Amino acid sequence: MIEDRKRAHIMKSLLPESQFDIGTGLDLILPIHNALPEINYDSIDTKIKLFGKTFNYPIYISGMTGGFKGAQVINRDLASLASQYNIPLGIGSIRAMIEKPELKETYYVKDYDVFLIANIGGAQLLQYPLNQILDAFNELEADAIAVHLNPAQELIQKEGDLNWEGVLEKIAELSEEVNVVVKEVGSGISGTVAKRLSSTKVKYVDVAGAGGTSWTKIEYLRYPDMPTGFENWGLPTALAIIQSKPYIKVWASGGIRSGIDGAKALMLGAEAFGMAKPFLEAQTQGKLPQLMDTIIWQLKGVMFLTGSKDIEQLKKAPYIVLGWLKDYAP
Ligand SMILES: Cc1cc2nc3c(=O)[nH]c(=O)nc-3n(C[C@H](O)[C@H](O)[C@H](O)COP(=O)(O)O)c2cc1C
Repeated sequence: MIEDRKRAHIMKSLLPESQFDIGTGLDLILPIHNALPEINYDSIDTKIKLFGKTFNYPIYISGMTGGFKGAQVINRDLASLASQYNIPLGIGSIRAMIEKPELKETYYVKDYDVFLIANIGGAQLLQYPLNQILDAFNELEADAIAVHLNPAQELIQKEGDLNWEGVLEKIAELSEEVNVVVKEVGSGISGTVAKRLSSTKVKYVDVAGAGGTSWTKIEYLRYPDMPTGFENWGLPTALAIIQSKPYIKVWASGGIRSGIDGAKALMLGAEAFGMAKPFLEAQTQGKLPQLMDTIIWQLKGVMFLTGSKDIEQLKKAPYIVLGWLKDYAP
């Protein structure tokens, strides 16, 4: 049952075994320290625009949950945080609600003043008529929808969807109707895929690369008898940003674990950075504002130490690329 699966995903994703053994590649970005920044920390401006709307920080909460009872409190806590800090909020796949409309309340957060990004799987676009997806989108009063591409996760799931023929065309159709961001879930979006998506009206690609939560590992935890081998499958986040950026505007996620990681992703050219697991963990510990304040302090710290008074300047701040990533640096 979808509801049991959602609950299991939350529990398993909090285990240390859910994380990649390989890194994001962001440790290979060395920002050039500016010992003479000539800016006032207190006037640093972290505002950005996404979908034409201004947000206070280049940070978003990656889509995670909905569709079972326990999801409601998680989504509401995250919505309260997102509205307090004026950042976008993603929710989990709305497939469960499309199948059972009575599950709407586990996703609905529009009583908070929040920019809401609904979520649906690429494979599900083949399974439900566009109208049904748009009805759920409208019911939730969402502002945008994230289409997640997760073929590696589906491969390990016994009940996984392995027919992906025609998904790009469905994404193109959806992008004619509403604001669309296309994301992975931890295996990353390559330059070739970003280029193919750039032929549609998709506004952003959220690379969701390797280095943080591994959805193949989570599915292996659920199906220990599946043949192993794909635990660390995917493009590290830094590489996915570098590859995708020439073709489409990029959001960075997958293994971002601090405002310093996030700032490096922006230096590589991302418009914003997101996290899933850290927000889930902080929600379970009742520490969401503390997490946000730490991320913001770290982001502003990098801006201060690179002499960047706003996000545009941060994106132009100099850095060196180390190690294997050097071969792929622009
Ligand atoms: C509990 C949990 C549930 C998730 N559910 C979804 C989902 O329904 N749709 C989706 O696009 N991504 C989903 N994700 C993936 C995240 O949005 C994100 O891409 C991925 O976890 C990598 O980010 P991280 O390393 O910061 O966790 C989920 C992640 C977590 C932790």
